[in-house]
Amino acid sequence: MKAVTIKRSPSGTAVGISDLPKPELKHDTDVIVRVLSVGLNGTDREIIQEGYGAFPQGEDEMVIGHESLGVVAEAGKHSSFKKGDLVTALVRRPCSDPACVNCRNGRADFCETGAYTERGIKGAHGFLSEYYAEDARYLVAVPKEAAAFGMLAEPQSIVEKVWDQVQRIQQRLVWEPKTAFILGSGPLGLLAAMTCRSLGLDTFVWSKSEETSLQAELVRRIGAHYRQADALKDGFAEQTLRLKEYAETIGRRVDLMFECTGYSPLAFEAMEVVGANGVLALLGVTPGNTMLNISADQLNKELVLENKCILGSVNASRKDFETGIYRLQQIDRQFKGVLGQVITDRMSLEEVHSIDFKRVEIKAVADVVPPSQWESLISPEEAARYSFSV
Ligand code: BGC
Repeated sequence: MKAVTIKRSPSGTAVGISDLPKPELKHDTDVIVRVLSVGLNGTDREIIQEGYGAFPQGEDEMVIGHESLGVVAEAGKHSSFKKGDLVTALVRRPCSDPACVNCRNGRADFCETGAYTERGIKGAHGFLSEYYAEDARYLVAVPKEAAAFGMLAEPQSIVEKVWDQVQRIQQRLVWEPKTAFILGSGPLGLLAAMTCRSLGLDTFVWSKSEETSLQAELVRRIGAHYRQADALKDGFAEQTLRLKEYAETIGRRVDLMFECTGYSPLAFEAMEVVGANGVLALLGVTPGNTMLNISADQLNKELVLENKCILGSVNASRKDFETGIYRLQQIDRQFKGVLGQVITDRMSLEEVHSIDFKRVEIKAVADVVPPSQWESLISPEEAARYSFSV
């Protein structure tokens, strides 16, 4: 079967297409999934271009891709799935340390040892291949109605984990959030903005994309406010002060912030912008060694005296995937067609190795099976089998 892999050789690493053996059922709980579509994100770009990630132990090749949508091709008899079920898969697999209470309790996203693996990213093959095998416990059912945007379940799970954590944290007080601020208008920023809108929050998005960009248009379509970060030429570096100024012009307490750019100086400015009793979630990273000159006493004072909470968050749990699939359906109903517009660049598996990430408008997706053929592979009874309780 065909797979997109990153390969290590004496001359460096390179992305290409490999012919790998089709996986087989080995256990009663295993499932063989035929891959329909795989989303590509900044982590894939870093794996392809910057050597991020880690090969499976003892191997010089790794199948990439971690945002998957597929259909069950073969189901082990104790898997609880059947042929034709639409599924996505969790990314992270637990470490093997018996002392890691989080991995031992289904929360590998809070692994304490760092020895977890992540399919398509760290030490395990990903999903950008014609088929993959997986233990049923790491698969999540996707209703048929969500097929068109099912590959967004993984990035949406990242947003859901934050919202879930924020609700737990904010039980520390009586919290009635009204205003959200999103930094960045990439796929994650847009999903965060849509989620905040569907939660009824007045939402502001601050990003480098131009006011006339599709990103800005989508933000406005969902009833959120868009503001382009001013000094375009030098990225955010030139304008970190202006985020604060912009926030001041709005004149409202910012209750919840999602930092989705990964530009660390902006994360520090966001700490000043988030309001009293509010939460700032940091979701992005970029490689580098940026040094900052900050007013540490002032920042420390604000964090303490205003009960501010700064939350770092990575990866997500099964529950976050399930809530995410539910939320995507809600967003799709509330803002018709918007999720489809987030997926701007579609390509075949064969085209992935020549992807130019700089040219991707918002979100790139690799269709392993052309969407016109999906319907024939998805079981007709599938839709009725799942109901989501959130
Ligand atoms: C993925 C996460 C993963 C993280 C770190 C992100 O792109 O969405 O699932 O945990 O990269 O590897």
